[in-house]
Order: sequence, then C-alpha cells, then structure tokens
Amino acid sequence: MYRRILTLVGLALCLAACKTAPKGPQDLLTVNDKKIDAVIAQMTLEEKVNMLHSKTNMSSAGVERLGIADMHYADGPFGIREEGVPNGFQSAGWQLDSATYFPTGSALAATWSEDLAYQYGTGMGVEARLRGKDVILGPAVNIQRLPVGGRTYEYLSEDPILSAALALYYTKGVQDQGTAVCIKHFAVNNQETNRGSVDAQVDERTLREIYLKPFERAVVEGGAMSVMPAYNKVNGDYCSENEHLLNEILRGEWGFKGFTVSDWGGTHSTMGAMLHGLNVQMTGDNYLGQPVIDSIKVGKLTEEMVDEKVRQILRVRYAIEAIPDDVANTKQTSQPESQAIAKAVAEKSIVLLKNEGGALPLKPGVKKIAVIGQNAVLKTQSGGVGAGVKALYEITPLEGIRKRAGADVQVDYAPGYKNFPGRRWGRNPATPDPLVATAIDEPADKKLLAEAVKLARQADVVIFFGGTNKSIETEGSDRANIDLPTGQNEVVKALYEANKNLVTVLISGGPTDLRQLEPVSPAIVQGWWNGTEGGTALAEVLFGDIAPSGKLPFTFPAKLDDSPAFALGNFPDKTQGGDLFTMLYRQDLSREERAEIMAKLPKPVSQYTEGSLVGYRWYDTKNVKPMYAFGHGLSYVDFGYGAMTAAAGKDTVTVSFELSNEGAMPADEVVQLYVARPGATVEWPAKELKAFARVSLKAGEKKTVELSIPVKDLRYWNVEKNAWDLEHGTLQLLLGAASDDIRQTAEVAI
Ligand code: GLC
Repeated sequence: MYRRILTLVGLALCLAACKTAPKGPQDLLTVNDKKIDAVIAQMTLEEKVNMLHSKTNMSSAGVERLGIADMHYADGPFGIREEGVPNGFQSAGWQLDSATYFPTGSALAATWSEDLAYQYGTGMGVEARLRGKDVILGPAVNIQRLPVGGRTYEYLSEDPILSAALALYYTKGVQDQGTAVCIKHFAVNNQETNRGSVDAQVDERTLREIYLKPFERAVVEGGAMSVMPAYNKVNGDYCSENEHLLNEILRGEWGFKGFTVSDWGGTHSTMGAMLHGLNVQMTGDNYLGQPVIDSIKVGKLTEEMVDEKVRQILRVRYAIEAIPDDVANTKQTSQPESQAIAKAVAEKSIVLLKNEGGALPLKPGVKKIAVIGQNAVLKTQSGGVGAGVKALYEITPLEGIRKRAGADVQVDYAPGYKNFPGRRWGRNPATPDPLVATAIDEPADKKLLAEAVKLARQADVVIFFGGTNKSIETEGSDRANIDLPTGQNEVVKALYEANKNLVTVLISGGPTDLRQLEPVSPAIVQGWWNGTEGGTALAEVLFGDIAPSGKLPFTFPAKLDDSPAFALGNFPDKTQGGDLFTMLYRQDLSREERAEIMAKLPKPVSQYTEGSLVGYRWYDTKNVKPMYAFGHGLSYVDFGYGAMTAAAGKDTVTVSFELSNEGAMPADEVVQLYVARPGATVEWPAKELKAFARVSLKAGEKKTVELSIPVKDLRYWNVEKNAWDLEHGTLQLLLGAASDDIRQTAEVAI
C-alpha cells in the first residue's frame, strides 16, 4: 500500500508540474511519457514488436533486459479465473487460485447500484492483484439486444444509461485497486451466432446513443486503461481493425491513451491491425510478430508506428505495479471482504416478479418445505466458457434454504426434471443418466414428476426451481428460444395441482418464456446466477429477513417473437455456418490456406434495423405488452411517491420528490426517471431512462430524493452534423418504480 501512496504522490507532483492540466482520467496515463520515450529509444525493433502479441495464452511480453515486466491478463468479469496452462485454457491445477464467484453481469445489473458496482470492481481488483494479474478481461458491457443471447448472463442491461453507469463504477472500483480493466467487447457484440465473422450493420445514431454508451463512460470518465475489440465486424470492418471505432472514436473523440487487446483469435491482418488501432494480438504472432518487421523492411509500415503502439502499452505498464512472481499466488485468492461484497450484490439483485396474495415471504408457521428442481442444487460458478470461476465455495439455493430454515423445519428435495448439460462440445453419455436429458425440449420424466408431486402433496409450501443452466446460456452459442427446458412447464403445473402454496424461483442469466408457468405460480422470483453466496441471499429473501429490491435490467417478453430483432426478422441471420472463430485457432493452416477457406465462407450479416428501439424502447413504442417490463421488481412493502418538482438548468434537469416506505420493514426502492419528447421533430422512442437511484428506507421512513439528468445526456447524434445535438422543446419527465409503472409526471422546457 505504501508503494501505491508513493506512486500516487509521484503522480500528483507530476501533474502539478504538467503544463496542461489533464482533461480527464485518460490523461493521467500520459504522465510517464517522457520516461517511456527514453525507454523505447533503448529498445530494439524485435523487442518492441515482441510486445505486440501474446507470450503465453494469458500474457504479453515486456522487455526483461530493461526491467519491463510482462503484462498478465485474467478473465473476469465475475471472478478471477483459475490459472491456465501457459499455452491454453486447461487448468494448471493450482491450489491457491480459488476465487470469489461474484454474481454474474445480469445479476449485478439487477441491483441498479453504482455503489455495489464499485464495490464489485474493488473485490475483483483485489483478487486480481493477489493472483499477480495486471489486467482483468472485463467488464463485459455489451447491450442486451437479444433475449436469446448466449452471453446475456455476462452482460448488463438493454438500456445504455444503466449499463454505462455500472460499467463506469465497476471500472473505477477495479482501477482504484491498482489493476487495469480491459472493457469488452468493443463493439456491437450482441450475438454468439457466427460471432467470429458476423457483420453488425448499425446506423451511426444508434451506434452512438445505444451501443457505445457503456464504453464511452468507462473510457472517458472511468479512465479504462485497456479495451478489447470484439470478434465481429461493425459496418463491414472487423472490430480489431476498425478505423472508425478504434482510431476515430476511441482515440480521437474519447481521448483514449491506453492499449487495445484483440479477443482471443480475433486478429485478422497485419496491416489492418497496425493501421487501424490494435496494439496486442491475442493469441499468436502470425500477424503482429515477424510480419510487422518484414513490412517495415519493405516500407509498408514504419518503426514510429510500432513505437506509438509500444508507448500506449507502456503507459499502462507504468500505471500498474508488476507483482513479482514470488509474491503473487502466495495467499488464497478468495478474500472474506470479496465474499461479503458478493453477498451484498446477491441480496440486492433478486427480483420479485410476482407475489399474489402475499405468498412471500414464507410464513413463520411453515414446518415442511418441498424444494423441487435440479436448479436448486446445481452450482453455477463454472461453464459458460471464458467467464467460469473456480470458486472457493458456492452456497446453492437448497443449502441456503436448509441453513436458514433451521432444524425444526423439514426441507425435502426432489430433482423434478432432468438437467440438460448441453451438447455443443460434449458427446452423448455412453450410459444414460436418469437425471440427464438428451434433448433440451424433452418432455417431463414421468418418474421424476411423480416423485416431486408426492413430496409437494405432503408439504406446507412448495418451492419450484426452474430456469436454464450455463450450457444452455453460454458464450459461443445463442439459445434457439427462451422456452423453459426439459418439461419444466409440465412439472410446475403438476406441482400446483398438488399444492396451491407454490413459489417459483428462476435460476437463469437471461429471460425465459413464462406464459405457461405464470398462471400456476402465485409468486415468482428471478434468482439469477448469483455467486458464491447466492443461496444465502435467496433464503434471506424467501424467509423475509430482507425485502427483495432487484429490478429487471432487461425485459421479459411475453414471447420471443415480440422482441425487436425477431419481430423484424433481423435475427437469426439466414446465412448458415461460417463461424471463423474456430478457424482462427487453426495454427496448422498457412495464411494462404486460411485466406482461401475464409474467402469461401458465407458472410453472415446482422441488420440492426430496429435502430435505437432496443428492449423496452421497442415494446413501449410499438405498444407490445411484455410479461415483465424493464425496471420491474416488487418489494414486501409499498412505496409512496410524492409530487415531483422539476427544474431545467443549462447543464442539468433536476427533479425532487418525497419517497416513503409505507410498510413494516426496511426496504430499498430503485426509483427510475424516464423522459418523453412530445412534439419533437427528431424521432425518439416512446420513453428513455435517463436517471435512477437506489434508496434505502426504514419502515415508515420518508426521504426527499433528488435525481438529475445531465443535459448532455438528452442530446441525439445528428448524422447530418456528425455530432451530438440538442433538440430544444418540451421534455416530459416520467418518474416511476418501473418502465411500466409511472407514478409522477412533470414537464420542463429544454
Ligand atoms: C473469449 C471471450 C473473451 C475472453 C477471451 C479470453 O473468447 O470472447 O471475453 O476474455 O476469449 O478467454
């Protein structure tokens, strides 16, 4: 810590000496430029180029001769991934690299809490340092465009304001611990289908107002030190060599001073990468290795270009203390403070979707509970490909319920339905497992169903655990639909028949189709993949120790075809096959062979013709009623929203109102402020979130709450001017508990 204080003091003195005060956090990275240039002058061309590509699967080289340490990367974004072998992802079998498993992205987003996002980043940053890691490959902040998106569990929200706020505070939390973020995947990475080659075709206004927002705030306000270009293309160019994204916007407009690291296997050429903004090829050196030197020799590139890339890398190297090998990994990675943060996030992420007749919280007299469903016992820490965590421990829902219920409550369990562990890469088991389905849409298993119904009949209350798992929702593939798998609908109907005191808990990363389940579940809870203490937090909510306070960060559509990309036929793309992702890993191919194969592959395209009408923007504008709306989440208390006063200044629009907790227990409310633009000439969605706050109130407490909207957040991207622009006129302010639950309105002129 002392060393860090020295660094900060040193930094402050440097800044004081600087002629031009830094314009923002990015400029802090330039304070060592003079020293860096002096070091670059001592480096050979080979040493410089050696920094532009992977050294091992999770590191890029420094210059040992000059005392510049290698750069060590670690997957996140919700737990520091176990150590892999030097040339791959296989486990290295270490003992001290069991980490804290934080609630995944969609759970963090459901907290709508900047403070928790900051704490979350702090925990991640601390544990990265213990593992000797310099850069966390996270946060993963792409907008939730598709309800079937394979990485919905990893990403945050369908709304740019919510996603951007959480991305910013996660970034600050990590970097305040002396670790760099590598915010990903830049940009418009919203599907896994053909992710290695799909061309996301999106108009400039939508790109700016929706898809870039989370990256913009994390870079400009948060000082994100590195950025990971995505696998896909945007408007024709691969992200890892996209002049518009990497040079014009990221570096030109946002003033980014750090470095970019390709996604693993996401580099596509030497010249494209060198000219259009990539610093480090992960992995391999077939583009940013010897071919760079060869290109300089024939005058196609210059050494100055290499110097600039090395300078950007060294700015981060100098900002992040290198942890000596004999210091790293000498303590258990998972720390009690991080476990406490994971628990706090889990507690505030749980969303109460429905609570008919006060079915929840469980009544004190309950003596027999039937817990049905394998999602009550399946751990969710690993799987989902890159973001898996080897957790020091994970409390499952059943463990949490049993622990909280105590000895004088009988808690019985039955699996209820078969699990579907996915077949993407695995083979069908040789010997059939009675608890494992061979198809995701397999009907309910009669024997398992009968066993579950028998338990349900004898219980005071039934808790049904449905949802998906991390083979169904995973990086690398999108879901075919959002149906509940393996006959869960049949099971829950039979359970409700047997016992009307039924509560459903959904354990999933993304939305599911609840049309059959909703009518037979008096209470429904979205429990997420909620980390190391997920079971503990869930039990606290179910037993009423705490009131649920999570709010949906994305819409649960009534049916998949209601969602914009499906309604418009924009997804899935009809082009079949063609995922270059695996192709790029084939180091056995010569460049010519690979180019020949890739030239023949179909060119998948994803048309973003819905424009900015993502998520609730679509449903509200098209008057399509969702199953549960963006921002929806019930509590065990009612909240009163007093009349709102509003004022519009030059730089901010502020509102003020009194919020009251009308219930008998402490609770949090996430208040949401949307805007509408009656009479606008520019086209806008029906409403847009522009401010929110999580407010804690004791029973009966009242608080005056102030929300403010920076006027700059009310601008639109004017494609004619190719710049942000403000349309003056009437602004309608809609204050509510959800996007479909507006409590107060007001109007101002801007
Ligand atoms: C993966 C992911 C990326 C991850 C990287 C390293 O393919 O797209 O998010 O950080 O490779 O595991």
